Amino acid sequence: MTDVSEHVRRNRVLWDAWAQKYAASAAGAWEQETPTWGIWSVPESQVHVLPEDLAGKDVIELGCGTAYVSSWLARRGARVVGIDNSAAQLATARRLQRQYGLDFPLIQGNAEAVPYPDASFDFAISEYGACLWADPQRWVPEAARLLRPGGQLVFLVNSFLMLLCMPVEDDVAATDRLLRPAFDVSRVEWPGDIGVEFHLSHGNWIRLLRGAGFDIEELVEMRPDANATTRYPFVTLEWARQWPCEEVWKVRKRGGPVAMT
Ligand SMILES: C[S@@+](CC[C@H](N)C(=O)[O-])C[C@H]1O[C@@H](n2cnc3c(N)ncnc32)[C@H](O)[C@@H]1O
Repeated sequence: MTDVSEHVRRNRVLWDAWAQKYAASAAGAWEQETPTWGIWSVPESQVHVLPEDLAGKDVIELGCGTAYVSSWLARRGARVVGIDNSAAQLATARRLQRQYGLDFPLIQGNAEAVPYPDASFDFAISEYGACLWADPQRWVPEAARLLRPGGQLVFLVNSFLMLLCMPVEDDVAATDRLLRPAFDVSRVEWPGDIGVEFHLSHGNWIRLLRGAGFDIEELVEMRPDANATTRYPFVTLEWARQWPCEEVWKVRKRGGPVAMT
């Protein structure tokens, strides 16, 4: 962990500082029997983020944080590895592992350079993890390297549309106006924040993913239920019911076995 780039170092400081305030919600998520996704807790039955059969599959969570997603995968019989940049986030994850009696490897490291051989995994997932905080030009090819041919990558991020509508002020919700240009966006630093995020337009995601050897299967535009709630201030329910504020990309590494008809 010594030879890492500036954004990885900055995001480690940020997440080590934020870990404490994420610990309580992490416990609630570990407690859940059925997965829910994103800031509005959209049920798995609506979005089908996870493959049907994970039993015996090798899976990795890229930027696992408190590892509640990994815990859901482990309970479905997957052989899970979680990697995260923040020691403090992983400390919460390890405490919850002990509490819930689930044991799987948790590695402190950078999802842009994962210490596993090529073709080690069948499934890779990231929920607001590496997919938001790591450089897509690095973590996407790395995910392709880690997956076996035919393996699937699924990630959940803020929608690009919402990014364009977000004021720079902290705690002010997305507006119904486009506040910034869509071209030349990638690295995003909010004023007064030490963190570095990455947001790509749909065209840039498609170009990057296809170039790394993925076929795109689905882009799920998340819509919360009419009575959904969130603890996050950056988007209102009224907004999120009209426009997608989160999206799930489902892509598959080319070269898998040809399906028999
Ligand atoms: C919002 S959390 C998402 C994880 C999980 N879904 C959760 O909520 O606990 C973002 C996580 O990404 C991790 N992260 C940021 N940059 C990373 C990188 N380059 N490699 C691995 N993890 C990274 C952070 O340390 C943080 O734990």
